[in-house]
Amino acid sequence: MRLIIKKDYRAMSKKAAKIVAEQIREKPDSVLGLATGSTVIGTYKELIRIHKKEGLDFSEVTTFNLDEYYPIPSTHPQSYHYFIHKELFNHINIDPDRIHIPDGLVKNTNAFCQWYEDEIKKAGGIDLQLLGIGKDGHIGFNEPGSSLGSRTRIKTLTAQTIKDNAQFFKKKEDVPKFAITIGVGTILDAKRCLLLASGKNKAKVLKKAIEGPITAQVTASVLQMHKELLVIADEEASSALERKEYYQHIEELTGKLKTLTLEED
Ligand code: GLP
Repeated sequence: MRLIIKKDYRAMSKKAAKIVAEQIREKPDSVLGLATGSTVIGTYKELIRIHKKEGLDFSEVTTFNLDEYYPIPSTHPQSYHYFIHKELFNHINIDPDRIHIPDGLVKNTNAFCQWYEDEIKKAGGIDLQLLGIGKDGHIGFNEPGSSLGSRTRIKTLTAQTIKDNAQFFKKKEDVPKFAITIGVGTILDAKRCLLLASGKNKAKVLKKAIEGPITAQVTASVLQMHKELLVIADEEASSALERKEYYQHIEELTGKLKTLTLEED
């Protein structure tokens, strides 16, 4: 695991976008796992800028969104389908045939979830999985108690998540109680994972996720077992980490090592 601490949300977003852009430049037909939520908006803004100003080409990129509320129509302004189009897809040259988002109205959810897993496999697996973290430590919508080996499926949202999401819906009754999410096991299969955390309200949970024990009660903690995890957090989100100075020390020395070896940043 590597942890990079950036001054603020803007710096975190710029660094994350740079990593995604490098992935696409190195492998133009990359398969990206995409997240939704306020944390990733800045990263998408910066990717749009790189696309417009530096010609970053998304035409061969395939994407799989992590999750979607259930039930919800794709046209609903709070659907993740709507979000990802508004915040990213509408502004880049992505091929609509290469976009995959869980269907918030599908009737046969089991068949759909199996199809989603098969499509990820057919695409060659996820090269880079972008992740945010929920206040209770969930990744995707893998709420506390999710099996650490789980695959794409329908999940019941916790009371806390429903409460957190209520602010985005006009009426409390409208807040979806379920979601289709790729599983923890599906996320672990990604070749690289990039977890972002910003703001004071993520400090406690980030500490649990990366310094606490691996537990299904904090599904993000399983990322400690991933062979290539990069965490980018801002100062506020990293403020509760016990080993903060150690992570900074590693980053400094990694920079020095790069001047001694042939590796480039
Ligand atoms: C939702 C999404 C997660 C996301 C989380 C954090 O629960 N399903 O994928 O990581 O929100 O959202 P935010 O970035 O707004 O804090």
